Amino acid sequence: MLYIGIDLGTSATKLLLADEKGDIKKIVSKEYPLSFPHPGWSEQNPEDWYKAAIEGLKELTADVDKSSVAGISFGGQMHGLVTLDEHDNVIRPAILWNDGRSAKQCEYLNDVIGKEQLSSYTANIAFAGFTAPKILWMKENEPELFEKIARIMLPKDYLAYRLTGAFCTDYSDASGMLLLDVENKCWSEEMIGLCGIKREMLPDLYESYEKVGVLKPEIASEIGLSDHVIVAAGAGDNAAAAVGTGTVGEGMCNISLGTSGTIFISSESFAVDRNNALHAFAHADGFYHLMACMLSAASCNKWWLEDILGTDAYAKEQEGIETLGENHVYYLPYLMGERSPLNDPDARSAFIGMTMDTTRKELMQAVLEGVTFALRDSLEVARSLGIKVERSKICGGGAKSPLWKKMIANILNLTLDVPAVEEGPSMGGAMLAMVACGAYKNVSEAAKAIVKVTSHVEPDPALVEKYNARYETFKKLYPALKDVFAAGM
Ligand code: XUL
Repeated sequence: MLYIGIDLGTSATKLLLADEKGDIKKIVSKEYPLSFPHPGWSEQNPEDWYKAAIEGLKELTADVDKSSVAGISFGGQMHGLVTLDEHDNVIRPAILWNDGRSAKQCEYLNDVIGKEQLSSYTANIAFAGFTAPKILWMKENEPELFEKIARIMLPKDYLAYRLTGAFCTDYSDASGMLLLDVENKCWSEEMIGLCGIKREMLPDLYESYEKVGVLKPEIASEIGLSDHVIVAAGAGDNAAAAVGTGTVGEGMCNISLGTSGTIFISSESFAVDRNNALHAFAHADGFYHLMACMLSAASCNKWWLEDILGTDAYAKEQEGIETLGENHVYYLPYLMGERSPLNDPDARSAFIGMTMDTTRKELMQAVLEGVTFALRDSLEVARSLGIKVERSKICGGGAKSPLWKKMIANILNLTLDVPAVEEGPSMGGAMLAMVACGAYKNVSEAAKAIVKVTSHVEPDPALVEKYNARYETFKKLYPALKDVFAAGM
């Protein structure tokens, strides 16, 4: 049988078709725009996601025996606020995970309600980009639209709703709403009250690998699939990527270098970072994880190459970068403010340390290194909690670059285990569909059977040493500029 994973990403929806051995039959990608209506804001039109999914499903299944497609599931960009009125019309463009407009609402939640209180309700504190602060933003700034809200959902859940009619979400994605009591896996009545919404506006909760419904007959026939195709709840893209790279069970780590950059540590038991710098979320395997998320990772590389240099020759721009650990230029990667570990929507990007002889290559190197140093900031938080991270899986667009992987291994001082399949979230989505269809007993069994590590990148002690010294300088830059950023630039 065949299974489909839909990765509803920020720049595109990627769809993957695989059999139960994990052999990939086809991958399709459909791009859509991202709009930044004000500096630090980030929105998308849910209809674009739906169109991309339908077109993508048609293309993906064009050349296969369609009756062999048994299941579909998702990995989806997390935290996005999608609001529907009582007639199921989308009320306003979705406010995405990297949108920083809710700084004031976060201050209210963290400082007036209090971090301890929030953490006791949800296991997390407020970050701009999480869903609850954005609901409060809508309540304060668009009261006439807020009044119309009948349903609140996350991006991938909007797709599931359109495809099946089921109003559902899964625990991993719901964890990032700041509305879920993560430990007890139920909606938090306190948070519902604080946001001024009603329980019935929130979706029903499922494990990621549970069936939520089947394709609506009219959609099945439009695509040419059977209307018995099972749709499973799916997961937030990071949890789905973790499934796709085999980061399940106790103490495994995955680094995702996509638009965002995340460090994901799986655990069989629930735990909270006492400083709430790491998110304490449910995992798609039925257990839990801790996660750090930086807002602009591979997107810094994309911005630098495509928007500033006007090229898409990613590999060529990295050619000839050989003096690792010896660059005099530093780059701060805070193009959309920063989540982990700074929690500062006002933070901004900067190149620092240039001289008249600075070259394009050095700036290129600085961008990749700057993102990696910022990732290390988050890893240091995990290590300071006593979590030992000596090796990690890696996935996402940035993981295609051998140079960047070498920087990660050396700046983070860990061994990278590179899986054969780098499409983490879409592969994870397909694997969740396999479990929902009964091809595997559980997620961990699916991961054992499917995920293969094909290469390793080891840190080199001399380079680790050089990068340790540069990291000490990097660490001083954001604190030196913080007040300048806060004053508005
Ligand atoms: C995770 C996060 C991002 C998005 C990107 O907390 O905000 O990784 O899920 O799609």
